[in-house]
Amino acid sequence: MIIHSADFEKSSSKIKECPETTLPEFAFIGRSNVGKSSLINMLMQRKDLAKTSGAPGKTRLINHFKINESWYLVDLPGYGYAKVSKTDRASFMKMIYDYFENRDNMVNAFVLIDSRHAPLKSDLEFMVWLGEHGIPFSIIMTKLDKLSSSELMKNKEAYHKKMLLEWETLPPFFYTSSSSRVGREETLGYIEHCVKVYQESQMI
Ligand code: GTP
Ligand code: MG
Repeated sequence: MIIHSADFEKSSSKIKECPETTLPEFAFIGRSNVGKSSLINMLMQRKDLAKTSGAPGKTRLINHFKINESWYLVDLPGYGYAKVSKTDRASFMKMIYDYFENRDNMVNAFVLIDSRHAPLKSDLEFMVWLGEHGIPFSIIMTKLDKLSSSELMKNKEAYHKKMLLEWETLPPFFYTSSSSRVGREETLGYIEHCVKVYQESQMI
């Protein structure tokens, strides 16, 4: 997919403030510091479109970016990071749950997981919650530049195995690095496909 335009539209503290639209949108969710905002910048080839930071808890609101005038990317606060204060964590969770339970044009949630780690309880629990609420999701493994291909293989397999205990089939998996731009074409190609399917479903 060619990106012609990527514009920040607004930050919202609750679902009621989110843009009123029937355009399809794709949400980026995952633990704080996993690389959600960095990945959005990498996909859009823009350095500072979404704000990033080495300190977890940088993204504090629901951020909408309009892409090619035809779909939205949504950068969300992270969950489950011990160094983020309890109050912030609770407020982020409320925002996240409300968003996913009520946002009708949300087509796919990308759940980002750090490829360096063995499966984490907070990620697996969040995926189960999405499943229970009928929210479609795919998985993006991040920070591939930080581990060897054999380590990646090991962590990949561990995730597949763990998930197959809960699910009959696996969701789509994407493998990315924001610093080396790995996985950009694959992820954008998947979004393009989902946008097309959504548009066709709206025409019926
Ligand atoms: P919150 O907004 O706090 O929830 O975090 P986030 O998930 O948006 O993470 P963010 O994109 O701000 O990145 C967190 C840190 O990880 C920053 O220091 C980034 O530079 C770094 N980072 C993100 N992606 C990558 C990557 O692919 N490779 C490497 N090496 N570092 C990355
Ligand atoms: Mg962020």
